[in-house]
Amino acid sequence: MAEKTDVVIIGAGAAGMMCAIEAGKRGRRVLVIDHARAPGEKIRISGGGRCNFTNIHAEPRNFLSQNPHFCKSALARYTPRNFLGLVEKHGIAWHEKTLGQLFCDHSAKDIIAMLLKEMRDAGAELRLMTDVSSVEKTATGFRVSTSGGTVDTASLVIATGGKSIPKMGATGFAYRIAELFGLRVVETRPGLVPLTLDPQSLAAHEGMPGVAVEVVARHGKTEFREAMLFTHRGLSGPAILQISSFWREGDEITLHLQPDVDLAVLLAAARKENGKQAVQTVLSEHMPRKLAQLLVGQSGVDGPLAEVAGRKIEMLAEHVRRWRIRPAGSEGYRTAEVTLGGVDTDELDSRTMAAKLVPGLHFIGEAVDVTGWLGGYNFQWAWASGHAAGQEV
Ligand code: FDA
Repeated sequence: MAEKTDVVIIGAGAAGMMCAIEAGKRGRRVLVIDHARAPGEKIRISGGGRCNFTNIHAEPRNFLSQNPHFCKSALARYTPRNFLGLVEKHGIAWHEKTLGQLFCDHSAKDIIAMLLKEMRDAGAELRLMTDVSSVEKTATGFRVSTSGGTVDTASLVIATGGKSIPKMGATGFAYRIAELFGLRVVETRPGLVPLTLDPQSLAAHEGMPGVAVEVVARHGKTEFREAMLFTHRGLSGPAILQISSFWREGDEITLHLQPDVDLAVLLAAARKENGKQAVQTVLSEHMPRKLAQLLVGQSGVDGPLAEVAGRKIEMLAEHVRRWRIRPAGSEGYRTAEVTLGGVDTDELDSRTMAAKLVPGLHFIGEAVDVTGWLGGYNFQWAWASGHAAGQEV
């Protein structure tokens, strides 16, 4: 005999738990299934263990999707303030780090405990270490076969996230279910991911790993001003993670390595003051010494300032303003914070996250082709899309 319930949610991550809370509050019988040992594992490791749980400035423009309008409805009906209200109701201390990013003062585990308490209060049941072997459409809803038995449900919510960090149990399950029901999936690729350089470029950057600098990273018309870090494989840091979501294989990115300083003006002034100073010495006063050394080496502009032609100083300034890099690739799903692409938003109702052609089937969170920038936006999408489906299932 199959067990019967109103709502089955597969995936006890950020989106699935929020959906369970909202559906449970409406009096629906809710069962949340997850194959992991613990719920919300990505919440636990997020934000360096402090969870950047939202961004107070989150707006639709902070999300990538084939249809940039799709996220508007859900984001408008569940805002960062709404989530902050929940955090404060549970007495969780928080702070704004930078650029509207809100973090827990103590631990990301506070957010998981909060969601579990809300789920319990709403009467939602959580079943961990449970594998789903099949999902079928029935006359009244869906039959979900699991390692813990068979469940018949009126509504089915897929909240299994994307492909990033397979080590943590990411499976691509949502895309398989979408395809099973004939829904299109926008090609997936790693997002918010460090970029790699070819061996020749890495050799040219010898000694640079560990050097960090604030930059403006650009790809086409998109730019982010944040920190960048040289690594043993290539480039990382927030500026690179942000731009990686826009970058495609073969593309070039440009980096302004001194966004606060007009180097041409600075070097001209330094020359007037003391023409004996070496270009590299002056540069080192404004950026890490190793970077100054690299730039001088690459541009071939060095020596005492008095002996360097104005034209060459302008050339060096331009090199620093528009440092061009053609990444060889990315570190892939192994380290990507998110998966770009996913269930095609054309297949879903933006108000309810329901599949237009399959009544009762919903997709929420990272599984959907909506991906946020770095900085708390992805959790805000998980909360908002989970909330939207939770009002409907
Ligand atoms: P999520 O991946 O959270 O949950 C999916 C759940 O489904 C998991 O519990 C998984 O076990 C389960 N599951 C998967 N396949 C299954 C299957 N076949 N059967 C049963 N269960 C299955 N974002 C942000 O806004 N602020 C931040 O600070 C960070 N930091 C961060 C750090 C790191 C290291 C990563 C990898 C990611 C972030 N993110 C982030 C991104 C954020 O974690 C992500 O966007 C959300 O967790 C997505 O929430 P979902 O609920 O959609 O999926």
